[in-house]
Amino acid sequence: MHTQMNKPVARKEHTGSPHDLSEMLAAGTKEVHEKAENTQFVKDFLRGRIRKELFKLGAVALYYTYSAMEDEIERNKDHPHFAPLYFPAELNRHENLARDLEYFYGPDWETQVKCSQATQRYVDRIHEVGQEDPVLLVAHAYTRYMGDLSGGQVLKKVAQRALKLPSTGEGLEFYQFDAIHSAKAFKQLYRSRMNELELDVETKKKLVAEAVKAFQFNMEVFDELEEMGKSIQEDVLDAGMPVHGATGGDIS
Ligand code: HEM
Repeated sequence: MHTQMNKPVARKEHTGSPHDLSEMLAAGTKEVHEKAENTQFVKDFLRGRIRKELFKLGAVALYYTYSAMEDEIERNKDHPHFAPLYFPAELNRHENLARDLEYFYGPDWETQVKCSQATQRYVDRIHEVGQEDPVLLVAHAYTRYMGDLSGGQVLKKVAQRALKLPSTGEGLEFYQFDAIHSAKAFKQLYRSRMNELELDVETKKKLVAEAVKAFQFNMEVFDELEEMGKSIQEDVLDAGMPVHGATGGDIS
């Protein structure tokens, strides 16, 4: 999740063929992407209306999600339908998230966090896919990593400002991709790698359906966080980025 402000954002037109997997994924998730942008949790986050306790729970959900996804990616790194998308040094997030959680919860963070119900359903699906139909992992990796690379810096700034986190980046390592210098160039590379996978059209359609599912799992996690937020007592901080005049979808 990421970038510009609250109303649906027109995503760039790409120039490939409509049968390219990258085009099919972009087109096939357009509607659910707009829905995701409009969940209350995401809208509040972008306005800087995010409490630290809830932000921490969001990081916990991401930690379990990325741990599952990166375990399954590791298991399938040599699978011909995933190998070209294997970029652990550039993309892996679970270690960054572990450091964020250590910052927020202290050295014994592992005993203090647990996987929520909505996150568990997402995690279960990721494991199922990784073990039974690994080609569908592409859809999960696409949904999260391409999203994260499309606006981490804006989210990072919103969180930093709303939660008064240190400018050294502690607590926000999730948003920091040290091995990626140009998010835009990396996304292009990732799209071209997706397009080079040898997949028939039926499989590509299954991948689009799985990506829609992945967005839905994310929305269920947001909705659950939103519900949890209602029972967390803390002052709401209103320190978002300006809603108008925000720029671009890429980090760096
Ligand atoms: C791409 C905005 C939430 C997944 C983009 C792009 C923008 C954007 C502007 C285009 C970047 C480009 O063309 O290079 C937003 C905003 C959001 C949001 C404003 C919330 C307020 C999410 C969420 C997910 C997601 C929740 C999934 C968990 C993606 C993906 C892409 C993308 C997969 C790549 C699309 C493609 O080119 O195939 N987003 N996004 N986004 N976003 Fe989001």
